[in-house]
Amino acid sequence: MCGIVGYVGQPGAVDREYYALDVVLEGLRRLEYRGYDSAGVAVVAEGAVEHRKKAGKVAALDAELEASPLPHSILGIGHTRWATHGGPTDPNAHPHVVDNGRLAVVHNGIIENFSELRSELSQKGYNFVSDTDTEVAATLLADHYNKDAARDLTVAMRLTSQRLEGAFTLLAVHADHEDRIVAARRNSPLVIGLGEHENFLGSDVSGFIDYTKQAVEMGNDQIVTITAEGYEITDFEGNRAEGRPFEVKWDAAAAEKGGFSSFMDKEIHDQPAAVRDTLLGRLDEKGRLSLDEVHIDESVLRSVDKIVVIACGTAAYAGQVARYAIEHWCRIPTEVELAHEFRYRDPIVNEKTLVVALSQSGETMDTLMAIRHAREQGAKVVAICNTNGSSIPRESDASLYTHAGPEIAVASTKAFLAQITAAYLLGLYLAQLRGNMYADEIADVLDELQKMPEKIQEVIDAEEQVKKLGTDMSTSSSVLFLGRHVGFPVALEGALKLKEIAYIHAEGFAAGELKHGPIALIEEGQPVFVIVPSPRGRDSLHSKVVSNIQEIRARGAITIVIAEEGDESVKDYANHVITVPQAPTLLQPLLATVPLQVFACALAGAKGYDVDQPRNLAKSVTVE
Ligand code: M6R
Repeated sequence: MCGIVGYVGQPGAVDREYYALDVVLEGLRRLEYRGYDSAGVAVVAEGAVEHRKKAGKVAALDAELEASPLPHSILGIGHTRWATHGGPTDPNAHPHVVDNGRLAVVHNGIIENFSELRSELSQKGYNFVSDTDTEVAATLLADHYNKDAARDLTVAMRLTSQRLEGAFTLLAVHADHEDRIVAARRNSPLVIGLGEHENFLGSDVSGFIDYTKQAVEMGNDQIVTITAEGYEITDFEGNRAEGRPFEVKWDAAAAEKGGFSSFMDKEIHDQPAAVRDTLLGRLDEKGRLSLDEVHIDESVLRSVDKIVVIACGTAAYAGQVARYAIEHWCRIPTEVELAHEFRYRDPIVNEKTLVVALSQSGETMDTLMAIRHAREQGAKVVAICNTNGSSIPRESDASLYTHAGPEIAVASTKAFLAQITAAYLLGLYLAQLRGNMYADEIADVLDELQKMPEKIQEVIDAEEQVKKLGTDMSTSSSVLFLGRHVGFPVALEGALKLKEIAYIHAEGFAAGELKHGPIALIEEGQPVFVIVPSPRGRDSLHSKVVSNIQEIRARGAITIVIAEEGDESVKDYANHVITVPQAPTLLQPLLATVPLQVFACALAGAKGYDVDQPRNLAKSVTVE
């Protein structure tokens, strides 16, 4: 999704070796993980705005800047665009420059009433050179600036924002004002970075992490004007507002690959730490679960009669895993709903419903809209999120943060394991509060959870076998995944990883569903992953999956079986066995998912694909 960076420095105030363009380009590179298809920058120098923009990656913009350099400047904005209105072309890239080349605007989001505004502005005599909603917003801003705002850029932004519907972060610079950037946000991310005689704006802190760790979170429907010496926030009516200052806890190195071949590879290896850190600090001195962040009245939580988990993509699969545990531990009916479907099916939600929103980014618009809908119906919402200060936790009644650290690769890995861990903590917490489990039963599960980081590490240490399989199977045109119980969402997640980064047909099935149709797909040489539950769990579950392996093997499938150490029963029917350490049934997804991630990463790598930025995908989907 679009990335935005802004920088204002102070000429001569300090001896600096960089200019606005250096900061902005570095910020855009850091924001590349969000996914984009064009990039651009604008600077203001000597009373003029100059800009360059290019379809493609930041590297293409770099080449353009080398061929046609921009002047040194202390004021600049930059943008990486993920196309919504209009294709990924040079003219549609941001910045959009209007007002006879004097006003440059970058934008993230979608302006829903743009065609109405475009007609209105066309009637006033304005012409448009792109297909974008952004150019309409920029033109409206110019119109206000030159008319009713008396050339005050902040006032013009306020008047413009009042007219816009939809979601937007807008940044504007004008040739008349070489000292400021004016920005507005509604339902779209924007963070302020504070430096010494310099200030920053970014879609998230990655945009300025190389320069400062001091940041300020803005509220919704607010405007900020930044100069080198400060910032001023108002609402859309012009009333003064306060931001929430915070210190960025992770450093630039955490956003680097750290020696791995890709961010995805690095993030797969981050998983023991992601689970460990998510478990940290959740117990009180008596060893009881204490989720400080879940400050919803205990009586409300006791009266909950239904849980609805809302999420998209990988986060929704984490929710599906968690449902098995939450229902089992809390005896509360639990549904998992794709966020984008939830609102439109008129769900039965009321003040006795607890909605759990899962999101790595905290900015997924479908999930945000779903929680707003749920709260309107009286439900309480707990967000399980990886991104501090993002919109979903901010708009929820309570938040439980996963501590997976920044996830840069578009394909989610460590966030998935951290989401399952956090959702399990929430389930145990509810069970403790409602008296569904004895304290020693909860302590046993927590003990097992604490052992998981080490076990995940064991799976990672044995990754070479799986990497080789991925490389050997790089010419496969289809891979299937089977699982039962908690293994079913793991199968779905394994298939999603392969689709996302290797662009091959992959499907996950509930193993029991095989004979109701999917078994017809099995032919000689079809690779099928099978996630086998622990033989120490429910015997019927285990033996049924072993039968499924026999059925597909007899029809020519190449079976790749993920089974627990010591499970000898699968050996006769498996072409390849990947073993994972023993763990309770409900915790097995934290182990069985890892080889599937490694497999997808290796297979896509062998095909020569960019595993971190797969085609057509954005890291955080901030439009509906
Ligand atoms: O940031 P979120 O967790 O809300 O994102 C939800 C999905 O868009 C995300 O999990 C997506 O499916 C990933 N690319 C999967 O790898």
